[in-house]
Amino acid sequence: MKVTISVIKADVGGLVGHHVVPEELEETAWAILEEAKDELLFDFDVSHVGDDLILIMTHDKGEDSEEIHGLAWNVFQEAAEVAKEMGLYGAGQDLLKNAFSGNIRGMGPGVAEMTIEERPSEPIIVFGADKTEAGAWNLPLYRMFADPFNTAGLIIDPHLHMGFRFEVWDLIDHKKVIMSTSEEMYDLLALIGSPGRFAIKRVFPKPGHLINENEPVAVASTERLYEEAGRYVGKDDPVMVVRAQHGLPAVGEVMEPFAFPHLVEGWMRGSHWGPLMPVSVRDAKPTRFDGPPRVIALGYQLKNGMLIGPEDMFDDPSFDRARQIANEIADYMRRHGPFEPHRVSFHDLEYTTMPAVLDKLKDRFEPL
Ligand code: 13P
Ligand code: 13P
Ligand code: MG
Ligand code: MG
Repeated sequence: MKVTISVIKADVGGLVGHHVVPEELEETAWAILEEAKDELLFDFDVSHVGDDLILIMTHDKGEDSEEIHGLAWNVFQEAAEVAKEMGLYGAGQDLLKNAFSGNIRGMGPGVAEMTIEERPSEPIIVFGADKTEAGAWNLPLYRMFADPFNTAGLIIDPHLHMGFRFEVWDLIDHKKVIMSTSEEMYDLLALIGSPGRFAIKRVFPKPGHLINENEPVAVASTERLYEEAGRYVGKDDPVMVVRAQHGLPAVGEVMEPFAFPHLVEGWMRGSHWGPLMPVSVRDAKPTRFDGPPRVIALGYQLKNGMLIGPEDMFDDPSFDRARQIANEIADYMRRHGPFEPHRVSFHDLEYTTMPAVLDKLKDRFEPL
């Protein structure tokens, strides 16, 4: 059966500051989606990472459905109202527009959707990250689907051995390109090694795979909040859905990249590089310097469109060491204070205070 998985997230307010989504907001979301369940949705779940509320919905309306996006928008609006009543910080932060006009893209929330022919056993992992940007998924997605040092199946399983196709978006020039691995590994890395500019949007199998070549096996949100808002209001805090097993990376191969807490852009005021720390939902509460950036993973078995789960995948002592390393990297990076490369590059500060500082000094600058 055909199922669309829509994962849509937004920051509609945090308790305390940009710390966490309080229960009240999740309950609001839950109540609205529960009502929509038989009419619009097969099933749903509500979760959060830090101050980002995550809606996980399954249905048969396809991607970019006005009904589904409208439902999500309605949930975020209602939750933002509750956030306002509670005086939460940044109430309605990611809701950039007033009126919904058919599609939630470009309105602030992040969207990751895929339509698939559900397999007899369909393990999926929904990832959510707080205090970072869309390109944060580049390194883990590459490792899962293209790096045999991560994914043993690329060597061992004939369907993985064929390689995959990566849909890469140029986030500045708004263009996309599909690149094939292993043939184009180096060209792919040339692009996605710059995660502020190029982000992996989808991964597809190749022709001849068990899964149809037009069906995504992974999809990420690539919305850039500051571009949509025209100013800094918060970070993108992206989500992603990855399918696993049976010709795809095993669940453990999907999780493995996060054993290395790679450096991502975001953290305090969206303006600092820091390690991406894999945590249980319980610990998805960035505190130190508003971070370090966090990632959660929710595991489900999808069956007849129903979500069986979630399993809190990083609630596992085998990720303790990644968390410890992330804390060590956090100490090291923090000691740079306002210096690059802890602080993001001069170019990336263009959207925050840098123009104001330069403007103030413009009459005092003398030619050399
Ligand atoms: P599948 O080939 O069924 O995905 O299982 C692989 C496996 O056992 C992973 O460790
Ligand atoms: P969020 O993007 O998670 O709202 O964080 C904003 C911020 O400025 C944290 O310091
Ligand atoms: Mg926030
Ligand atoms: Mg956030």
